[in-house]
Amino acid sequence: MSNRYRIASIEDVSVGSGREFVAGGRIVALFHLEDGFHAMDGICPHAGGPLAQGVVRGSVVTCPWHGWQFDVTTGRHCLNAHLCQPSFPVTVEGTDVFVELP
Ligand code: FES
Repeated sequence: MSNRYRIASIEDVSVGSGREFVAGGRIVALFHLEDGFHAMDGICPHAGGPLAQGVVRGSVVTCPWHGWQFDVTTGRHCLNAHLCQPSFPVTVEGTDVFVELP
């Protein structure tokens, strides 16, 4: 069973950046790229860094604490194929951004 949450308005996250939101009791990193919005678990699996506060280049976010990098469209770590951050489906209706959590 999944749960759908309205977590933001489209203007809350500028293109090329991310922002942290709380939904369903978890921290969600919402990123706004040229192709739309992408969401993944906002807690870095290395040591708990805030992924949404990382610098975004293309589709890659760099964790601000120690530099681990993830593709925000898939959740995959850029160097370690065994590491994949949970990512969540995002939909936009009008100006509202929804995320579907497990
Ligand atoms: S906490 Fe993210 S790289 Fe260390």
